[in-house]
Amino acid sequence: MSVQSKLPSPFLWGYATASYQIEGSPAADGRLPSIWDTFASKPGKTLDGLDGSHATESYSKWKDDIALLKQYGAKSYRFSLSWSRIIPKGGRGDPVNEAGIKHYSDFIDGLLEAGITPFVTIYHWDLPQELHDRYGGWLDRRIIDDFVNYAEVCFKAFGDRVKHWLTINEPWCVAVLGYCVGIHAPGRCSDRNKSPEGGDSATEPWIVAHHEILAHAQAVKIYRDKYKPAQGGEIGITLNGDWCMPYDDSPENVKAAQDALDTAIGWFADPIYRGFYPESMKKMLGSRLPTFTEEEWALVHGSSDFYGMNTYTTKLCKAGGTLEHHGLTDSTFTRPDGTQLGVQAHCSWLQAYAPGFRALLNYLWKTYKKPIYVTENGFAVKDEGSKPLSEAIHDTDRVNYYQGNLDALLAAATEDGCDIRSYFGWSLLDNFEWGDGYVTRFGVTYVNYETQERTPKDSARLIAKWFGEHVASA
Ligand code: NOJ
Repeated sequence: MSVQSKLPSPFLWGYATASYQIEGSPAADGRLPSIWDTFASKPGKTLDGLDGSHATESYSKWKDDIALLKQYGAKSYRFSLSWSRIIPKGGRGDPVNEAGIKHYSDFIDGLLEAGITPFVTIYHWDLPQELHDRYGGWLDRRIIDDFVNYAEVCFKAFGDRVKHWLTINEPWCVAVLGYCVGIHAPGRCSDRNKSPEGGDSATEPWIVAHHEILAHAQAVKIYRDKYKPAQGGEIGITLNGDWCMPYDDSPENVKAAQDALDTAIGWFADPIYRGFYPESMKKMLGSRLPTFTEEEWALVHGSSDFYGMNTYTTKLCKAGGTLEHHGLTDSTFTRPDGTQLGVQAHCSWLQAYAPGFRALLNYLWKTYKKPIYVTENGFAVKDEGSKPLSEAIHDTDRVNYYQGNLDALLAAATEDGCDIRSYFGWSLLDNFEWGDGYVTRFGVTYVNYETQERTPKDSARLIAKWFGEHVASA
């Protein structure tokens, strides 16, 4: 194989996780509750009423996680910092917890000693509960300054060794799942049966997103002004977004697919990479879409060094749905002829469809013109959680998913000319899948939650072999 038909070296491939989904030890070393501890402790919010208080016990077993990454040959590891461990009460002026800093500092050193590049997410949904109680968390503008202060504590403590930063993971999920549908923390929603605490699904998601964008952009500015010159790293945001195809070629469904891309991806990516909001969103939301001042636009536009891409599936979009209230389009996996788009995963929202992955890479590269870091991609095998270990480790549907998507990624990079610089499988190991608890398993490593024993699945071997063959030698 010639060099041009391979991925460039160094190519950051590895696995991703997030603090609340793996760490456990919720009260260790001064950590205080986050909104996820609170949300998951309420009846009916998560499957089987389970929470992240044990998960994969990675707070104490972090050396085992590094050993696994090493065994798999991973070049990089994407993980998130728990705000409640670093500044337990969360705010500027609240005490910084040295024990929390030491934990992540030791972890980063451990990764580097193992030859693994840390790729750090500053915020992956576990807001300190105190900030929610103090002023309503992401609903209030004060969150911007507190987030920036927290980010700065992280740059100071870890920036000598961390050269790849992500400010916020999937801001869409925070806004829509947390403040519109109410199935993620803090669980706000207009439907009082689902959220007796309150919420207004028609306005809150847009306000939350506005503060997320500004918090991200301000943290990036501080990094670029004060830390980057000496530390020399890069920083950006990571957005969720699945490929959206029209259900059929009727003009209303063609429009529905573009509207779906605009509201899932363009909502954040257009301001950040292009300096404006999608026209479709302005029309749809009118005065409900908060506006930026000129000064804020200057801050937001260009505030990501790369395109951070989390993606899992492809949807067939139809006109209708509850787009104007929820930013949710009507979509299906069943084609007009009754066939399925791909292999169904355990979660209802996910089917495997590699051509969609390639199409999305092309769309993002052409639309936003930034190097792409694939920061999450993965598959939960149907009913894997109820299979015995001997069967679960032969995760054929996941192997096929990764094989298809990795081949698509190679084609996008080498044939279509997309600049792609990383690939992180979600996830290193089975873990706490938010409202879906522990039955949905995304790991390339099987976790026995009784014993915490970790067993590699076939997909871990496939991925290691694939990258061994498809990255150019340095
Ligand atoms: C995206 C999120 O970032 C991650 O936390 C979640 O577990 C995966 N998707 C799978 O749903």
